[in-house]
Amino acid sequence: MNRAKKKLRTLNASVRACTACELHESRTYTVFGRGRSNADLVILGEAPSTQDDVQGKPFVGRVGQELEHLMRLADVDRENVYLMNVVKCRPPSNRTPTADEVLNCRHFLVKQIAAISPVVIVTTGRVASQQLNENFGSLGALRGQRFAYRGIDVYPTYHPAYVLRAPDKRELVVKDLKQAWRRVERSYE
Ligand code: URA
Repeated sequence: MNRAKKKLRTLNASVRACTACELHESRTYTVFGRGRSNADLVILGEAPSTQDDVQGKPFVGRVGQELEHLMRLADVDRENVYLMNVVKCRPPSNRTPTADEVLNCRHFLVKQIAAISPVVIVTTGRVASQQLNENFGSLGALRGQRFAYRGIDVYPTYHPAYVLRAPDKRELVVKDLKQAWRRVERSYE
């Protein structure tokens, strides 16, 4: 087992035992992450939704299907991707997590990214993007820009749930994913 995988296992055990906020009372399962433990590309979402909570895996519901579709359109190597969220338990009625919930979960996020150590992180939506850049304002204004988080290139883009509501944004997300993937490939040169 590689080092990243070992670290993630230990961290996942802490997440499973976490009762730091009220979300633990309504969760079915904690939702840690899935994919290659030492992936070059991390896709960061906001929080698990209904299906994710029931299966204990991120992005397995309808929004996850859209994300898979977007990755296919962008020719991303799916075997080299790790999917995870800012918050590890589903907020009731799939509402946006509160600032306190995000803060309580933040130490998991920081350690999880450090363990994987990817080349690129694609942040989907405002909550995920703001977590890695505290100066991040509106997503509409900053989507398409790049910034660095602890030496890792971050590509903010729209959330796949938003793409489902606004399909005209699909092309932009595919473009962002393609650029992120190209950045990963450049790291091999
Ligand atoms: N499912 C996830 O795992 N994350 C999201 O942000 C949305 C749905």
